[in-house]
Amino acid sequence: MKIVHSIEELTESLTSVRKEGRSIGFVPTMGALHEGHMALVRRAGKESDFVVATVYVNPTQFNNQNDLKLYPRTPENDARLLEENGCDLLFFPTTEEMYPAGFTTPNVPLGNLEKLMEGAFRPGHFNGVIQIVYRFFDLIQPDKAFFGLKDFQQVAVIQHMVNFLKLPVNIIPCPTLRETTGLAMSSRNMRLNDADKAAALHIFKTLAFCKENVENYSPKALYHEAVSFFNQGALKLEYLSIVDPVTLEDLLDSWVPGATVCIACFCGDVRLIDNLTIVPYE
Ligand code: PAF
Repeated sequence: MKIVHSIEELTESLTSVRKEGRSIGFVPTMGALHEGHMALVRRAGKESDFVVATVYVNPTQFNNQNDLKLYPRTPENDARLLEENGCDLLFFPTTEEMYPAGFTTPNVPLGNLEKLMEGAFRPGHFNGVIQIVYRFFDLIQPDKAFFGLKDFQQVAVIQHMVNFLKLPVNIIPCPTLRETTGLAMSSRNMRLNDADKAAALHIFKTLAFCKENVENYSPKALYHEAVSFFNQGALKLEYLSIVDPVTLEDLLDSWVPGATVCIACFCGDVRLIDNLTIVPYE
């Protein structure tokens, strides 16, 4: 695996790949990599000839400076894991490279996508995500880009950007990987001790509770049951939403295929999100 830090080196490496007509699979990450990321890298390897990963903690998508400061960083381990899992090129840029003076991103109106759930609780977050993902797409020109569905709304936002700007890249959403306990794998889990992890399991228990009870309630009624179930645990709920998978609007009286429960909460000062599709897609 080659590691590059500058856009010049990145462009040089990719020019030869493109000349040979090889397809490029892209896995963007913020590092602190875990098995969930590795599943994306392996899938990218199966579906493309050449795999590019980025490790960059993008400051513009953090609405909380403390969260940015405390975001785990494990660069040596990240490079090792990527290499072991078949990544061909790792781009490890600096902020100066990513955001040069005068840099602009096309405007992508997000409508409700930035008003609901993560959009409501993390103002500006998705603009930051769009900014960096657009920048990477522009530099790397991947055929396919792989994103984990743990960030359910992020996948919807990126697909929206691709549609809106008519970008020639296929977005491949990939299933969330979980610990055997059910806890969704996340870089932020590195900030949890064993007691926190036990407490955080209540997120998955609540999602499973919703799945088990989907036939017993309307979405609105299940929402209330799920919130009181969640509040029996030790975590602080930010939101629990039962949503349409396309519009991400709250479901009220009737179920739709792909109905998904999304949760954001705090375990101590660590913010965790997770989701589960509780009605199968048709
Ligand atoms: O999901 C993430 O880790 C980040 O939001 C992404 C897509 C790498 C952009 O910084």
